[in-house]
Amino acid sequence: MNFKVQPKLIIHGGAGSSLKDKGGLETVRRSLYKIVEEVYSLLMSGGSASEAVVKGCQMLEDNPCFNAGTGSVLQSDGQVRMSASLMNGTTQSLSGVINVTRVKNPIELAQALQSSRDRVLSDYGAAEFARELQVPTYNPLTDLRLQEWMEERQDNFTKTMAGVVAAKELVSKDSAGRGTIGVVALDGQGNLSVGTSTGGKGFERIGRVSDSAMPAGNYATVDAAVSCTGIGEDIIDECLAARIVVRVRDGMTLQDAMQRSFDESEENKRDLGAIALDAQGAIAWGKTCQVLVAAYHDGNKIGDTLEASAQMQVGCV
Ligand code: GLY
Repeated sequence: MNFKVQPKLIIHGGAGSSLKDKGGLETVRRSLYKIVEEVYSLLMSGGSASEAVVKGCQMLEDNPCFNAGTGSVLQSDGQVRMSASLMNGTTQSLSGVINVTRVKNPIELAQALQSSRDRVLSDYGAAEFARELQVPTYNPLTDLRLQEWMEERQDNFTKTMAGVVAAKELVSKDSAGRGTIGVVALDGQGNLSVGTSTGGKGFERIGRVSDSAMPAGNYATVDAAVSCTGIGEDIIDECLAARIVVRVRDGMTLQDAMQRSFDESEENKRDLGAIALDAQGAIAWGKTCQVLVAAYHDGNKIGDTLEASAQMQVGCV
């Protein structure tokens, strides 16, 4: 392959409280590494950044450990509603779906909307669009998520959100995780792309809109690309993904842009995490919570953030 730059990749499967034990951590690590390996080999065989992002998001959506696609949390009325978006940094265009139901891979709808005049569709419109594309009907509900909702129903929904960092059995019982998945890729031609997909917070009001299909949670230009995870309202209030990318556009290094943005988020007591790449191939991540479930390929090897110990931390590779 005649590459202009070395392809780079980073993916996440949410952020939140500590993974319960080493066994849990290793299971999550294996799942992430398998996806990184497969998606990175697509980039190495000449796949575009957007193709790699869609592939990575599909794989994460299909893994019931994560709160997106199959395994999404339930909203207060017991329904799964999912949101996803794709942003191509080269064309600087974001497309997505908000609160879509009964599809397997919301990221595929976001991808199909890239070439549409109307690029972000919500509930009824998203369902109509899926029907037009003849996307098969699919129920993403898992027993674990149903059980979690039934328990909460008995407690009269006292929790403000579901335990959604990776699989529930991998986290301590009282850990309110902040699931969501995301992929950021830089292809061999130097194009950046980012995708983010979520089942939301869990137990939320009908109609609540996640950050994942907004520039606050998923944003890319030719300079940098960022996918966020955490409490959607906190991410929206910081406008985190766009804020980091604009800082890079205005001349900051990716690491400095992440550090400044996470210092501000910490100061504002936000609960969130993010992964990022820039056009030069710098890989970065940050979190204000205990764990960020992320892994990356730097061109030589795979690494991850699973054992990052400090609560508020920014890393750059
Ligand atoms: N970050 C996902 C959500 O809050 O919906």
